[in-house]
Amino acid sequence: MRRMRRDDFSRRLMRENVLTANDLIYPVFVLEGEAAVEPVSSMPGVSRVSLDGLLRLAEEAQNLGVPALALFPVVGADKKSEGAEEAWNPDGLVPRVVQALKANFPDLGVITDVALDPYTSHGQDGLIDPADPRGYVLNDETLEALAKQALCHAQAGADVVAPSDMMDGRVARIRAKLDEDQRIYTRILAYSAKYASSFYGPFRDAVGSAGNLGKGNKYTYQMDPANSDEAIREVALDIAEGADMYMVKPGMPYLDIVRRVKTELQVPTYVYQVSGEYAMLKAAAANGWLDEKACAMEALVAFKRAGADGILTYFALDAARWLRAGD
Ligand code: PBG
Repeated sequence: MRRMRRDDFSRRLMRENVLTANDLIYPVFVLEGEAAVEPVSSMPGVSRVSLDGLLRLAEEAQNLGVPALALFPVVGADKKSEGAEEAWNPDGLVPRVVQALKANFPDLGVITDVALDPYTSHGQDGLIDPADPRGYVLNDETLEALAKQALCHAQAGADVVAPSDMMDGRVARIRAKLDEDQRIYTRILAYSAKYASSFYGPFRDAVGSAGNLGKGNKYTYQMDPANSDEAIREVALDIAEGADMYMVKPGMPYLDIVRRVKTELQVPTYVYQVSGEYAMLKAAAANGWLDEKACAMEALVAFKRAGADGILTYFALDAARWLRAGD
């Protein structure tokens, strides 16, 4: 076996998987205002930015060949409510920044998150019955809200809407809503296998939903980390309901799920290297315990090896720069 590993040329010739900028999606936390930049303390190198900063990042992504951005809004307390009505306000933050992005960078893909958690006063991804002491998230009542939110994003010009809420039946409902409005080209990236993960901690800090969620959790709708067959059923349902792209989330602890989805269902498969995975690598690197670039690139190619067609990662711009530098 070592003959082929002996020289760089033969290692390159038998390399099975190659990461390129085309594989990357860059997530951005978006703020109201102007010239606003707020570093996220648990995610070194990541900041929440207002539209001007977002446009600069979009230009960088485009120049580096990164195909798409994924937007996550930071919503002020005054815009949060029990019913999450701000989620489908056509003059809200997300529709406004989507319009600006598409006007300035028409070829850069724009992906918006469809879930109510930035907009609910209780921090859950769906609507709850205020009379229920357990705060159970209502499935069917939430679907119409998600469909309105997705349509609002599509009408603003979003190329891809990405339901990350884990309600049952939301892909079908969103697809029907888009079709009714002749939005036949809007793609749906379904967060099909989204686990109830503790690796989302830094993200909830970044968007400011951690405080609202309090001691609450998302166990009644996000998946149990112990399950694997259930992920295949989730993806199969979203295929039947008409999604175009399928996400497994988180990433590194769930590579087995990525591989099963790709092998058993043969669909466009994506993986989300989540905030906690990013934070761990950054923290170890900051302490001098790990080589940041080497470990980040190893993790990214591992996603490819597991079968991912694309990777949503906070390292997207850095990785694209490292790839360009060719070292
Ligand atoms: C919420 C959402 C979450 C993430 C993306 N969208 C967190 C959650 O479900 O509470 C996490 C992403 C990350 O950790 O990087 N709809």
